[in-house]
Amino acid sequence: MGGPSITSLLLNLGLFSAGLAFDESREALASLEKRVVPDAPNGYAPAPVTCPSTRPTIRAAGKLSSEETAWLQKRRTATTQALREFLTRINIAGFDAGAYIDKNGNDVSLIPNIGIACSGGGYRALMNGAGVLSAFDSRTSNSTSPGHIGGLLQSSTYLAGLSGGGWLVGSLSLNNFTSVQAIVNSTQNQLGSLWQFEDSIFVGPDGGVNEPISGTSYYENLISTVDSKSDAGFNTSITDLWGRALAFQLMDYPQGGLDVTWSSLSDDPTFTSGSAPMPILVADGRAPGEDIVSLNTTVFEFNPWEMGSWDPTVFGFAPLRYVGSNFSGGAVPDNQKCIRGFDNAAFVMGTSSSLFNQFLLNIDAITATIPKVLDSIVEKFLNGLSGAENDIADWTPNPFFGWNNKTNPSAQSNRLTLVDGGEDLQNIPLQPLIQPERNVDVVFAVDSSADTLAPSANWPNGTAMVATYARSLETYLSNGTNFPSVPDQNTFVNLGLNTRPTFFGCDAANFTGTIPPLVVYIPNYPYVFNSNVSTYTFSYNISDRDAIIENGYLVATRGNSTLDSQWPQCVGCAIMSRTWARAKATVPDVCNQCFTRYCWNGTRASQTPAEPYDPTSVFTQLNATATSTKKNIGATLAPSILSLLASFGLAAIFAF
Ligand SMILES: *[C@@H]1O[C@H](CO)[C@@H](O)[C@H](O)[C@H]1NC(C)=O
Ligand SMILES: *[C@@H]1O[C@H](CO)[C@@H](O)[C@H](O)[C@H]1NC(C)=O
Ligand SMILES: *[C@@H]1O[C@H](CO)[C@@H](O)[C@H](O)[C@H]1NC(C)=O
Ligand SMILES: *[C@@H]1O[C@H](CO)[C@@H](O)[C@H](O)[C@H]1NC(C)=O
Ligand SMILES: *[C@@H]1O[C@H](CO)[C@@H](O)[C@H](O)[C@H]1NC(C)=O
Ligand SMILES: *[C@@H]1O[C@H](CO)[C@@H](O)[C@H](O)[C@H]1NC(C)=O
Ligand SMILES: *[C@@H]1O[C@H](CO)[C@@H](O)[C@H](O)[C@H]1NC(C)=O
Ligand SMILES: *[C@@H]1O[C@H](CO)[C@@H](O)[C@H](O)[C@H]1NC(C)=O
Ligand SMILES: *[C@@H]1O[C@H](CO)[C@@H](O)[C@H](O)[C@H]1NC(C)=O
Ligand SMILES: *[C@@H]1O[C@H](CO)[C@@H](O)[C@H](O)[C@H]1NC(C)=O
Ligand SMILES: *[C@@H]1O[C@H](CO)[C@@H](O)[C@H](O)[C@H]1NC(C)=O
Ligand SMILES: *[C@@H]1O[C@H](CO)[C@@H](O)[C@H](O)[C@H]1NC(C)=O
Repeated sequence: MGGPSITSLLLNLGLFSAGLAFDESREALASLEKRVVPDAPNGYAPAPVTCPSTRPTIRAAGKLSSEETAWLQKRRTATTQALREFLTRINIAGFDAGAYIDKNGNDVSLIPNIGIACSGGGYRALMNGAGVLSAFDSRTSNSTSPGHIGGLLQSSTYLAGLSGGGWLVGSLSLNNFTSVQAIVNSTQNQLGSLWQFEDSIFVGPDGGVNEPISGTSYYENLISTVDSKSDAGFNTSITDLWGRALAFQLMDYPQGGLDVTWSSLSDDPTFTSGSAPMPILVADGRAPGEDIVSLNTTVFEFNPWEMGSWDPTVFGFAPLRYVGSNFSGGAVPDNQKCIRGFDNAAFVMGTSSSLFNQFLLNIDAITATIPKVLDSIVEKFLNGLSGAENDIADWTPNPFFGWNNKTNPSAQSNRLTLVDGGEDLQNIPLQPLIQPERNVDVVFAVDSSADTLAPSANWPNGTAMVATYARSLETYLSNGTNFPSVPDQNTFVNLGLNTRPTFFGCDAANFTGTIPPLVVYIPNYPYVFNSNVSTYTFSYNISDRDAIIENGYLVATRGNSTLDSQWPQCVGCAIMSRTWARAKATVPDVCNQCFTRYCWNGTRASQTPAEPYDPTSVFTQLNATATSTKKNIGATLAPSILSLLASFGLAAIFAF
């Protein structure tokens, strides 16, 4: 708190009247179902609690946490049964999946361990990723019919997300691991509060039964909750506001779940029973003011129990529930209190997606999407943030202070600053899934990145895969991890590896040292909709949202197997591949055919593509862009929002 609080500043400016308390009776009407157990002691503000009898400590990242190890026993049991159903259903000729699993089900090394990774890319990544996950999800209607691949999600152990992909993973997990189709259904049938993307976070929710807050009370709520954190003595930044704003779209709780922490997932009965995969979010370490994040940056993960890094720099994990406490040298000193509530779930999702320096570079694209009258204000707001070097997520006090002094770049700093997990170009959250300790056999890597340029911008071209491969080659960073060989982006485009699913690292014998997972790369591609919408588009009408989700379903299923009637079998072959290699088992013919079609075979075509990348949609395009049935609330609220944003801008410059 280098200055006055935001509220006092606004009060002084006369722009912010009393009435902070929003209507609690209406809040009580809000849907109370489908939630993790909220466990923050004082809403958004972190607060002291009695330390547990064993005081919290940082642990070295040499192995899995005891909590993860224990949870895996339950999850692997659940996935083994789900996998039996899945593999039996897709029916690989020459492989009796039922008999195999009945025989080997008790030996986890003989049962494939599956991870899913959802890339960043704002709402585009959330929606395309949602379509892919709905195809993987046996709860989606028709997803278990022939030609479909429902049940893969139920068979998976890990579900990682980053930035917009982190919004997807967080939104599903924090809302009782609900399904994409349940969200789409509920918001079509009634005014639910999840995924109401018609109203951008700059405008706020539109009121309604489940969301009493709208308009100016929305801005007041954002400001007062972030203020409550700084009043409690914690540094805040633009990421706190960002996370709070996103929460109204991503979390079906009153006020977007002020007291819901990421670590409260570790108490969610659906999760603890092993009925859902383990959600993991990723963020990068970056000093304030730095613009470029190189592959040297430390990659952090947030799982339900811990935050930290496997990298040889930090190489440690903190108990997430107690982050916010004054750790020093890996422990909370006896004269320090234990703090809880710092790891607010929306703050974690906001951290994984804090790319404000990128927004600054794209200011025109953003201002094009918001009411004209707000343009100059928003620009000033974002520039003010840059001036304040505040375009980071502030994880002060640094849990890793005095920890691994020799290798940890922030060991001597009380401040730990994190940014969007894709800023190092590793836009697919693969690091958590290639850790040898996790023993993942196959990763389904959903890529919704915006790599390609005009005339057909915002499609992926393999850049994220190239980055993770490059990092794996740097022995001072890789620390025992390995990654399949991938070619350059020109090869991706020239060979069409970004137009259809491609398998990397098919041959387990082609590695020295750790054998990494086989990676099933699933790039965004147009089937019934041009799903290459800009990362900086902040509002979507519901029919566009649903069209992108439907397109994502087709991306994952190769058009319901229209483009390859054996696609579900090929997915099964990719899943079994490492396990068969370990057992030196004979690979069924159909799988060898699949591998010929889908495995990258080492061929490169690195010349600049002759034509600009410009894919045409596989099927007839949906007529999605129907006129919105909602009133343009941006226009009616513009004057009051204008004054609040103006104060925001000032607050950002002076108070943060
Ligand atoms: C969460 O989902 C599980 C499984 O779908 C269901 O049994 C349970 O009732 C749900 N919990 C809540 C609080 O809605
Ligand atoms: C499920 O498949 C049936 C038969 O192909 C079709 O009539 C129905 O519309 C499909 N349902 C959905 C939700 O796509
Ligand atoms: C693909 O399958 C889904 C689920 O049955 C269905 O809703 C959709 O219309 C199908 N699309 C195409 C292009 O076959
Ligand atoms: C969504 O709605 C469709 C059509 O009403 C229904 O068939 C399906 O079961 C619903 N899915 C979920 C997950 O609620
Ligand atoms: C963080 O907050 C402390 C007081 O709580 C203040 O002294 C310090 O200047 C703040 N740091 C930054 C970088 O804002
Ligand atoms: C990354 O770190 C290594 C080892 O410290 C150093 O040699 C290299 O120059 C760094 N690369 C960049 C791009 O900063
Ligand atoms: C990973 O890094 C840590 C910390 O630098 C080191 O102790 C460990 O030996 C490394 N592991 C491997 C497999 O290189
Ligand atoms: C690590 O750095 C901290 C902070 O400067 C210091 O207090 C501590 O003694 C150092 N630890 C070791 C083992 O050198
Ligand atoms: C691939 O994407 C990068 C941006 O990530 C871009 O600079 C490059 O031109 C693209 N190459 C091709 C062949 O699309
Ligand atoms: C490898 O793939 C390329 C194109 O993707 C193909 O032209 C070539 O025939 C393949 N080589 C082998 C040995 O299969
Ligand atoms: C096999 O490994 C070599 C060395 O890492 C690599 O260059 C080659 O691309 C790999 N082949 C395939 C098909 O991945
Ligand atoms: C889409 O809209 C066009 C023009 O409005 C119309 O001619 C066409 O039939 C529509 N297609 C579908 C599939 O509804």
